[in-house]
Amino acid sequence: MIFDIAVLGGGAAGLMAAATAGARGARVIVLDHAAEIGRKILISGGGRCNFTHLDTRPENFLSENRHFARSALARYTPRNFLAMVERHRIAWHEKTPGQLFCDNSARQIVEMLLSECKAAGVEFHLNANIGDVSKGDTFRVALDHDEVRASRIILATGGLAIPKLGATDLSLRIAKRFGLDIVPPTPALVPLTLAAPNVDLAGVALPVSARIGKRSFSDAMVFTHRGLSGPAILQISSYRRDDAEPLELDLLPGTDAEATLLDIKRQRPRAEPSALLAALPQRLARALVDTAWGRDMRCDLVNLPDRQIKALATRVARWRPTLSGTEGYAKAEVMRGGIDTRHLSSQTMSARHVPGLFAIGEAVDVTGWLGGYNFQWAWSSGYVAGISA
Ligand code: FDA
Repeated sequence: MIFDIAVLGGGAAGLMAAATAGARGARVIVLDHAAEIGRKILISGGGRCNFTHLDTRPENFLSENRHFARSALARYTPRNFLAMVERHRIAWHEKTPGQLFCDNSARQIVEMLLSECKAAGVEFHLNANIGDVSKGDTFRVALDHDEVRASRIILATGGLAIPKLGATDLSLRIAKRFGLDIVPPTPALVPLTLAAPNVDLAGVALPVSARIGKRSFSDAMVFTHRGLSGPAILQISSYRRDDAEPLELDLLPGTDAEATLLDIKRQRPRAEPSALLAALPQRLARALVDTAWGRDMRCDLVNLPDRQIKALATRVARWRPTLSGTEGYAKAEVMRGGIDTRHLSSQTMSARHVPGLFAIGEAVDVTGWLGGYNFQWAWSSGYVAGISA
């Protein structure tokens, strides 16, 4: 059987592309190796799916080409997706400004996309073991005992995050086979590991400002058994390059740590040194003071030279932890890198030199911040491919 379009991967981007293309009258098949469709959507946003961010801009994405996402994001906006959500009567709420979640369950988003696909006559082949993809008059997608032929194919198998949910590099391999370059993939939105983690701090959470180079995020951080996590860390992790600029953490964001600590000394001369860090969680304050002056140090603040207090303030406001790496794809929310956008048209998501080949979603070198941006990229790029393919 020959289809107009075969969509490889029935996740967020693939379902959007399939529904859009089907609604235009194209004969569409979605191939996915999973037994159940949209598993990443189901677990997203703690089961409530943070399905978009109302204030999505190209600046919220990492890519070798910072402008690549602009066109798709403008053609299919967060408001467009929200209109679909409302048409399906899915109750939603805004958590932090701009971040939209389902009131009830992420499953509603999967059901919505499936019902759009059904209305558009999209066919599904689940449990599909996709082998070689070749191109003659049409594309041929080899399956175990069968093949699917299609005039156009859309690569939508996502990134490498969470392999136990079935993440693979299939789109990257097929793209490479057709001569497209790949920006080396790495885990992103991922907890970081410390060279010398302090297990006593596991579970301690606090607001921080996390910085790498010129980029910084102010949000919560949490110590884990192996390192650091929480939204501020996940966000900044996407900007980490191995041998480049260090991670710097301000544990007292929004304050002048040096002035604050010296002020505490003046106001509470008879207090213990740990009083300097009373604004921090107690376990962390204790650990920082112990590291600075030793566990057995006993003295009143008045006896601590200002120079030592300033040194502690620097450590607290510009802490540069030694990182050993990340928790990897097993714990990453997304993959950074992917199909090099230089080979794709930002207007259509088609490969410039391979007529009929399209790539969308996380498989493409466009990686969003935490907060609904990655789904918005999936919807926008999926829509654009769906109307163009
Ligand atoms: P997606 O991963 O959705 O779909 C890929 C599909 O391809 C899957 O159905 C898979 O089975 C299939 N596939 C893969 N390899 C295959 C192969 N070899 N053969 C056949 N099929 C194959 N984003 C956001 O904006 N808000 C949020 O709340 C969250 N929350 C979140 C939580 C967690 C735990 C994770 C891991 C990720 C998120 N994300 C998120 C990120 C978001 O889920 C992700 O960016 C999108 O799902 C990407 O959409 P895609 O369609 O590109 O890939």
